[in-house]
Amino acid sequence: MYDVSALVYWYTQSERGMVMKGVRVVYATKTKHSKKIAEAIGKELGTKAINVTDNPSVEKIELLFIVGGIYGGDSLPELLGFVDRLDPDNVKRVALVTSCASKSQGQENVRKRLEEKGIDVIDERLIQGSFLLYKLGRPNKADIQEAVDFARTLQERL
Ligand SMILES: Cc1cc2nc3c(=O)[nH]c(=O)nc-3n(C[C@H](O)[C@H](O)[C@H](O)COP(=O)(O)O)c2cc1C
Repeated sequence: MYDVSALVYWYTQSERGMVMKGVRVVYATKTKHSKKIAEAIGKELGTKAINVTDNPSVEKIELLFIVGGIYGGDSLPELLGFVDRLDPDNVKRVALVTSCASKSQGQENVRKRLEEKGIDVIDERLIQGSFLLYKLGRPNKADIQEAVDFARTLQERL
């Protein structure tokens, strides 16, 4: 038997845009580190990681993971464009997963743009990347696991 009143409640709330659904994972990448990390997170959380160049549609969600690298101190332009197009009515919270060689530079420009829109950046994890020979081979398995654990912990808190 269906609980009709629960269904009606869900429908009316969703019509009013109040029902939030799970998590999403998007990434931007130049050398595929962020793709690997995002796909591992997506696998763990049961959602497909999508490249921002594929123009992912983001509907009502509880938490959006944005995975990206750092290039000359900044994020890729396609990621900044994606962030600029995000609708704060659909996305309340973002967690950043940042792959960089220095392991000290965050996605500051992304963070700033999100905050200007009123989207809360709840946490950021810096994952060891590499640049040419520097830290070659990173992110390795353990680095990717670190990102997965970070994401799972945040999802569990929802
Ligand atoms: C052109 C270029 C510029 C980079 N500039 C920086 C930088 O300013 N700071 C840093 O920490 N890492 C820098 N890196 C390293 C990348 O952030 C790191 O390799 C990251 O894992 C790349 O992610 P991706 O493979 O998803 O593109 C640079 C890498 C490239 C290819």
